[in-house]
Amino acid sequence: MPYQRITLTHFLLQEQRRLGGTGSFTGLMTDIIFACKMISREVNQGALSGNLGKAGSENVQGEEQKTLDILSNEIFMHMNALGGAYAGMASEEMEDVRPVHGAVDGKYLLLFDPLDGSSNIDVNISVGTIFSILRLPEGASTIAEAAFLQKGVKQIAAGYAIYGSSTMLVLTTGSGVNGFTLDQSIGMFMLTHPNMTIPTDTQEFAINASRARHWEPPVRRYVDECMAGAEGPRGKDFNMRWVASMVAEVHRILCRGGVFMYPADAENQAKGGKLRLLYEANPMAFIIEQAGGAASTGRGRILDVAPTKLHQRVPVILGSRNEVTRLAGYHAEYD
Ligand code: AHG
Ligand code: MN
Ligand code: MN
Ligand code: MN
Repeated sequence: MPYQRITLTHFLLQEQRRLGGTGSFTGLMTDIIFACKMISREVNQGALSGNLGKAGSENVQGEEQKTLDILSNEIFMHMNALGGAYAGMASEEMEDVRPVHGAVDGKYLLLFDPLDGSSNIDVNISVGTIFSILRLPEGASTIAEAAFLQKGVKQIAAGYAIYGSSTMLVLTTGSGVNGFTLDQSIGMFMLTHPNMTIPTDTQEFAINASRARHWEPPVRRYVDECMAGAEGPRGKDFNMRWVASMVAEVHRILCRGGVFMYPADAENQAKGGKLRLLYEANPMAFIIEQAGGAASTGRGRILDVAPTKLHQRVPVILGSRNEVTRLAGYHAEYD
């Protein structure tokens, strides 16, 4: 019954009561929710706002920034500084970490990808915002990069907003994954996808096939076997999808299973892969594991990777558990 749904705010309050929390996490989530709603509005406006297109600048990773990459970064920074819960923030679009001035109770660190799927902004395909929340390490008096270099297993919460045919916010605090759909008419996220779980098996995979000539043997073998379909060693047909927004791929996998790969290959190996560990791979790996899936570099669990720098990249293979395990096995056979 639609009128019996609960809002994200009520969900957080229920969790707070269940866990005997102080309310500081609920407060901090309120700012994330508001920031995502504002970004959703900007994305939804499309060409009407005059904010499509390139900004004419590059980020620290050498990527061309879109106007909405920068705007989303500013919105997320500003809204999340207001509550005073964070001691510092870091983002894909900022070279260095930022202390939050005037933080009254800054016990947390926020890492984010303000707009994921940049190449899709101007063509009305789903994009999103990814975030990861860490605790400020004990005794850290200054906000330096080192405070942010924590393994993914240390995350206390992670989530994403997807700005698609509907806007959703998907969240984990370490006890399962829940999805909330934005009711635009009342401006509230409503719990529509409780306890999201990923089917263990799948017949769908996602990879940028234009990079096939660079792939390592285990990835090539896996894709070849999928493509061979019912006549091949897998004995079943597979479907392929590539949206080029990680947020959209992860959301599809949470809804109906699948495997997503942005592996290390001969061309990106020197950089460590393409996707960034701290604000793309780690939050998504946390969500995927909490939904019963798996997330691997091909050679180990993503959440166990020890970060050495803020914008570090990492190979990513995530989704339905049996497929990720199979891919990890293929890597082990070739290494
Ligand atoms: P971002 O837009 O935040 O820089 O991230 C883009 C990422 C990710 O969303 C997607 O999976 C991948 O890059 C797409 O890469 P290709 O351009 O190689 O398809
Ligand atoms: Mn980018
Ligand atoms: Mn991204
Ligand atoms: Mn981005």
